[in-house]
Amino acid sequence: MRDLVRETTLTANDFMVPLFIVEGTKTKTEIPSMPDYFRFSLDLATAEAKRLYDLGVKGVLLFVKVADAEKDNTGLAALNPDGLMQRSIRAIKKAVPELVVATDVALDPFSSYGHDGIVKDDKILNDATVAVLTKMALSHAECGADIVAPSDMMDGRVLAIRQGLEKAGYVNTVIMSYSAKYASAFYGPFRDALDSAPGFGDKKTYQMDVANRKEALVEAARDVEEGADIVMVKPGMAYLDIVRDLANEIQVPIAVYQVSGEYAMLKAAAEKGWLDHDTVMLEQLMAFKRAGASIIISYHAEQALKLL
Ligand code: PBG
Repeated sequence: MRDLVRETTLTANDFMVPLFIVEGTKTKTEIPSMPDYFRFSLDLATAEAKRLYDLGVKGVLLFVKVADAEKDNTGLAALNPDGLMQRSIRAIKKAVPELVVATDVALDPFSSYGHDGIVKDDKILNDATVAVLTKMALSHAECGADIVAPSDMMDGRVLAIRQGLEKAGYVNTVIMSYSAKYASAFYGPFRDALDSAPGFGDKKTYQMDVANRKEALVEAARDVEEGADIVMVKPGMAYLDIVRDLANEIQVPIAVYQVSGEYAMLKAAAEKGWLDHDTVMLEQLMAFKRAGASIIISYHAEQALKLL
């Protein structure tokens, strides 16, 4: 009876899995603040992508960790046609063509300042950054990315990326915009994973104020107008009101990103025996669906799929 009247379902079709990729071969390193989650060298990441696809995962979201020597204040390494991201897209699309490959578009892993944009006099230059992000997205599309996902929160980047893609003939590349990305302390473990913590200040001049709700609607509506196919809310659990607002008002699919800090909290509590890991995990994931998300980006995806 309960199954018959259930309002929300959680299935394998709901998930995308973040993959952290590093240079080298045959390396798989656990991220200290994300137990059971790993950084992979590309050979192993490709095998991992295949394994996840065979498990039923529909998509992955790629992040790369760049050596300090390659970082600068222009995003040059992000545009390298043979950069780690570019090689990763090609390798994974070749090995698992049916797996949806999404890529992170932002400068922070490539920035000597650890910021998502180009820095001048301790400020982030919005428009100069947008020009680089557009080239970066195009470079990912050229390698076969199905989705480009700008996570930088610069104004006007979705339109610029859309126009760049159209002009180059990439009319089928999907833009998944991090529209409502909050200046959150829940990103801590991720910044450990990619060694991308800001070198000075914080990200509050471009990411959203955690106190704001209406602004999320404005940002998302603007992104859709500029050509976003999917809009995202991030983090997840503490922002379910935003997911619901967007689901009610915005006529494109909503993605939610359950971020590294959320993952770490549950792992830590479970390790102490204070929470039942799998039950709490499924409850959280179900809550994202109930709030109106179509896509859940989660480090728990594999475990969830196994249980589902
Ligand atoms: C940066 C980016 C961040 C995450 C995804 N892309 C961190 C940040 O803004 O500093 C966070 C993901 C997570 O915490 O799991 N462009």
